[in-house]
Amino acid sequence: MSSAPKLWAGRFSQETDALIHQFNASLPFDQRLWPYDIRGSIAHVKMLGDCGIIPLSDSQAIAEGLKTLAEDLAVGRAALPPDAEDVHMAVETLLTQRLGPIAGRLHTARSRNDQVATDIRLYVMDSIVATQERVRALQATLLAQAQQHRDTLLPGMTHLQHAQPVRLTHHLLTYFWMLARDDDRLSDARSRCDALPLGAGALAGTTFPINRQQVAEELGFARAIPNSLDAVSDRDFAIETVSALSILMMHLSRLSEELILWNTPAFGWVEMGDNVTTGSSIMPQKKNPDVAELTRGKAGRVYGDLVGLLTLMKGLPLAYNKDMQEDKEPLFDAFDTADLCLAAMNTLLQNTAFRAERMAAALRGDFSTATDLADYLVRQGLPFRQAHEAVGRLVARCLASGHGLEDLTGDDLIAASELFAGADAAALTGPRGSADARESEGGTGGAAVETQLNQARDHLARLDPAPLGLGAGGLP
Ligand code: ARG
Repeated sequence: MSSAPKLWAGRFSQETDALIHQFNASLPFDQRLWPYDIRGSIAHVKMLGDCGIIPLSDSQAIAEGLKTLAEDLAVGRAALPPDAEDVHMAVETLLTQRLGPIAGRLHTARSRNDQVATDIRLYVMDSIVATQERVRALQATLLAQAQQHRDTLLPGMTHLQHAQPVRLTHHLLTYFWMLARDDDRLSDARSRCDALPLGAGALAGTTFPINRQQVAEELGFARAIPNSLDAVSDRDFAIETVSALSILMMHLSRLSEELILWNTPAFGWVEMGDNVTTGSSIMPQKKNPDVAELTRGKAGRVYGDLVGLLTLMKGLPLAYNKDMQEDKEPLFDAFDTADLCLAAMNTLLQNTAFRAERMAAALRGDFSTATDLADYLVRQGLPFRQAHEAVGRLVARCLASGHGLEDLTGDDLIAASELFAGADAAALTGPRGSADARESEGGTGGAAVETQLNQARDHLARLDPAPLGLGAGGLP
């Protein structure tokens, strides 16, 4: 049995069954919304006073009471009553304990339906900004690492097979741009979240002469939602946000996968610090990339949050349905998980060294400059398909004799095609010449990658607010 009196108890003659009370309650998970609930209530009650809907003195007393309550909750001088049904009831119960019956004027021209929609929109808008800060911090780390590896080459892959040599700077910046899109998607989701539901009442609007524009302005919303039914029944903003977070997690998971692979003895392309890895309880030699593995795993969890939300909403008739109380846990979990993974991956990357010598070793004898040989023949006038064929035969001969392309002499090349006469065999078959030759826009050539580094620096410097540790001048 619950002890807190129900604020809707008027028409009921029996107490709620204890199990049913627990089943209905959302306080265990929606309590984190109290700062937004109080902010929303202060804006609402000020408007009620200004519009003459309740006495101005009561409006002022309630706003003051709510402000003090927020201060007390923040420092632990007050606590939400654990047996309240939800955060809205909990706040109102505390306010009533403090102010007496005048607290009862707060809920004029309002319903928990427009109240909860307002609370979670405020929460989402704040949380997006906090997540974006973490995204940008990770971008700054990637950029700092990228800047140190302009001369480090590794085998770029397609089909997880060695394809063409690329600069490590180029490879790392790929993740930088993925995160830039995540940041952008979050801003986009935030812009559609930025609309006020309050004033919709339970669903149909209210009989009181309210001023929604005032409340929107006071709470910092760009606009008021034009349709009261839509205001209380829409959860698109939560779905869009978790969708953006899912894509972000997919990116973190891909980065994780590469770090896990590169950390295997077979690759040995990275060395993760002892402070960011863990050991095995049975195999003394193990140093496991748990941070990357957990991040890869947690991507699935955030996808689950997204599918949960989509499924929750798919069959709901207008307007509010109690089903929608189930929106909070997946939404909160998606933010908590993404934020945690962003911080952990940032720490992991800051404590990971890239092993240029191992990457160079992987490029030896890997045929990743075969395209350069074909391109050379094309520049001498041969159609690309014939060039491809000639170099393919050369690769087959090397494979049969156990050599790599870089072992070929000028004469070996000429034996494959007369058109190689005069070519610098070492420059043509080596990975550095190959990478340096790719100066097309967005390519892996030295100058092209320098341009890209500048674009990345400019991108971060233009953001508002600038990521942690980045002054107006950008990274060094
Ligand atoms: N705890 C509820 C939720 O999270 C608040 C809205 C309740 N509205 C209602 N009509 N019972 O959705």
